[in-house]
Amino acid sequence: MCTWDQAGVNSYLGVMRLFIAVNIPKKEKDRIQRASRPIREADLPVRWVEPDKIHLTLKFLGEVRPEQVANVEGALERVAKSTRPFEMEVGGFGAFPTIRRPTVLWVGIEPSPALRCLKQDLEWALTDHGFDRETRAFHPHLTLGRAQADGSAGIFRGLDDVVSKMDYRGGVKVRKLDLMQSHLSRSGARYTILKSAQLKG
Ligand code: 2AM
Repeated sequence: MCTWDQAGVNSYLGVMRLFIAVNIPKKEKDRIQRASRPIREADLPVRWVEPDKIHLTLKFLGEVRPEQVANVEGALERVAKSTRPFEMEVGGFGAFPTIRRPTVLWVGIEPSPALRCLKQDLEWALTDHGFDRETRAFHPHLTLGRAQADGSAGIFRGLDDVVSKMDYRGGVKVRKLDLMQSHLSRSGARYTILKSAQLKG
């Protein structure tokens, strides 16, 4: 039987699956974990993100050739150098595209001017190196889980009720950006930090 996995193909081609993220402190991840217990325990067809892997993706770069990595790191450094540390408000549970037929379940992040500016600056800095600009609206979020079935059979009925009773508000001081590598395998994604850039603006 012929089998393959993305990690094997990537290492053969030498490309790396990269994204730029804000990693949040363990304390906040633990709070989110506690607050999201009702949906985690609601027996839904959802693949839950392991709590220590929860992060905010600012820019998904996809498969990047090794010779491009230095350019990405340079862009990350430049943006970080011109960005002041800022406070990020986190809270509220929701789903894309809708709570009745979700594909992604998330915790929301306030799209503050500081966060929007940072996102814009990253987009521009990376466009200079040939990466496509994101054309979709920016909806900052922490992915908690991904649905493994579509909601057409009413599988997610009642989820809106569960979510409306859940409460969580938190805050995170953003002091650094991380260039992350995603290693895909049959057992899920594993993330490693390739480079961190401190905010200094
Ligand atoms: P998500 O949390 O919104 O699902 C690592 O895979 C990160 O990159 C995830 O957090 C995921 O964001 C994001 N990601 C994965 N594939 C993506 C894609 N094709 N487009 C945009 N973001 C993607």
